[in-house]
Amino acid sequence: FQSEAFCDDLITWYRKEKRDLPWRLNQDPYRIWVSEIMLQQTKVDTVIPYYERFMDKFPSLKDFAHADEESVLKAWEGLGYYSRVRNLHSAVKEVEEKYDGNVPSTKEEVSSLKGVGPYTTGAILSIAFDKPEPAVDGNVMRVMSRVLSSWEDIAKPKTRKLFEEVIYKVISKEDPSSFNQGLMELGALICTPTSPSCLLCPVQKHCRAFEEGVQKELPVKSKK
Ligand code: ADE
Repeated sequence: FQSEAFCDDLITWYRKEKRDLPWRLNQDPYRIWVSEIMLQQTKVDTVIPYYERFMDKFPSLKDFAHADEESVLKAWEGLGYYSRVRNLHSAVKEVEEKYDGNVPSTKEEVSSLKGVGPYTTGAILSIAFDKPEPAVDGNVMRVMSRVLSSWEDIAKPKTRKLFEEVIYKVISKEDPSSFNQGLMELGALICTPTSPSCLLCPVQKHCRAFEEGVQKELPVKSKK
């Protein structure tokens, strides 16, 4: 597995083909954080209009930190999973008080924020702060299962850890944000669950599942 060539091919493709999504306009950690929480259980197309309204209503971390609970819940209405926004609001208030409104940039501090798990920690650190940390969500697990031709069950926590270890070794130190978002984008646009577009894939030559013809059989996911 040629990790440098994989990295280059993925990043070159991402820079050219990435969608213009509203959370990709800048690297404001607050904007990235909100987007990642919205995207946790909700599809990109659904999130976009909510995200834009949310940012009009609460353009900065300070605006959101000082907003009342009612207007916060109202802005989330229709997205569901309201514990997401309750945790987000309480964590943002903590950042306002404890860090003077600046989202922290260490793994320890970010991962201790309410509602911020390993995936969101990696997404914030890499996308907002350019730190080489993995951000492994469901899309990325599918892509990694196929690239590595791994038959490990992606429902098991140890499989995510295994992919995180691989990504630590492979991730671009120059542009970890494009690397992680490139994996996400590949999962959304090319390496889709049932009929992946392997002939259009920028990392086809690095993909063991494609080489073996088993891409449609991966990933393995047990029912819990
Ligand atoms: N899903 C989760 N985070 C994402 C991002 N930054 N871009 C596209 N899809 C995503």
